[in-house]
Amino acid sequence: METHKQFTEQEISPLHSLEEWEEDVLKRYPEPETPAKAKDAYRNYENPERDTVREFYRLNHRYQTFDFVRDKENDFLRFNKREMPVWGAMEYLNTLVDDSDPDIDLDQLQHLLQTSEAIRADGHPDWFVLTGFLHDLGKVLCLFGEPQWAVVGDTFPVGCRHSDKIVYPEFFKDNPDFYNERFNTKYGIYEPNCGLRNVHMSWGHDEYLYHLTKDYLPEPALYMIRYHSFYAQHRENAYDHLLDDHDREMFAWVRKFNPYDLYSKSPAPPNVAELRPYYEDLIAKYLPGTLKL
Ligand SMILES: [Fe+2]
Ligand SMILES: [Fe+2]
Repeated sequence: METHKQFTEQEISPLHSLEEWEEDVLKRYPEPETPAKAKDAYRNYENPERDTVREFYRLNHRYQTFDFVRDKENDFLRFNKREMPVWGAMEYLNTLVDDSDPDIDLDQLQHLLQTSEAIRADGHPDWFVLTGFLHDLGKVLCLFGEPQWAVVGDTFPVGCRHSDKIVYPEFFKDNPDFYNERFNTKYGIYEPNCGLRNVHMSWGHDEYLYHLTKDYLPEPALYMIRYHSFYAQHRENAYDHLLDDHDREMFAWVRKFNPYDLYSKSPAPPNVAELRPYYEDLIAKYLPGTLKL
């Protein structure tokens, strides 16, 4: 079966680091004030980074089938891999090794703190700050040996036709679901405007963390976590036909969150030791003492 395929080393880690995906998203969706520069950088096809990102999406689009997603849900949503306190899980996430330039790149914890501190500085509620701090914690999937393309990357619905608004749509021709009559129509296995709660998304850190936190955080937080990589919808509105009115209301929060994720990166690393007590209190307010991963 496709989902039990053994992946080669190149298929597991096409990117030099997970950030390569996020840097590419930033080039596709530059901060409004700096579009010219960022777009030029994006158009630089000589840039070898583009090839790794392209390869990453080739694998993502090929292997993220409906059956693959169901298989991952059945495995990871048992949460029987490990148990640790939230801060411990953060430190565990931070052991993800990059071979990218350490002078430029911030580690995972620093990205999370920059995101949450930017949210805090704007005076948002504490659960919103906590959401910024947690939103990429699902990347611990990489530490369980999962391929990069099953952890990060833009997410999209499976079980219905792939939108051409998804990055590199041409690679869906390698996905068996593309030829499956159950899955390759506009609605596929879904009903018009059935609501995203009934839709299976491609598997990755968003979906995993949503299930990990769904009993503890307010609903807008859960939408931000679950759909923050669903650029085809929150930026391109490509799946309006599956959303219901409640999703539309909640996506305002997803859109509010996105700039903090994309545009809060600054080369100055946050002071982790100084910030830790504030975040430990916030974690204790909303989450259990230990998380079952
Ligand atoms: Fe993310
Ligand atoms: Fe992020």
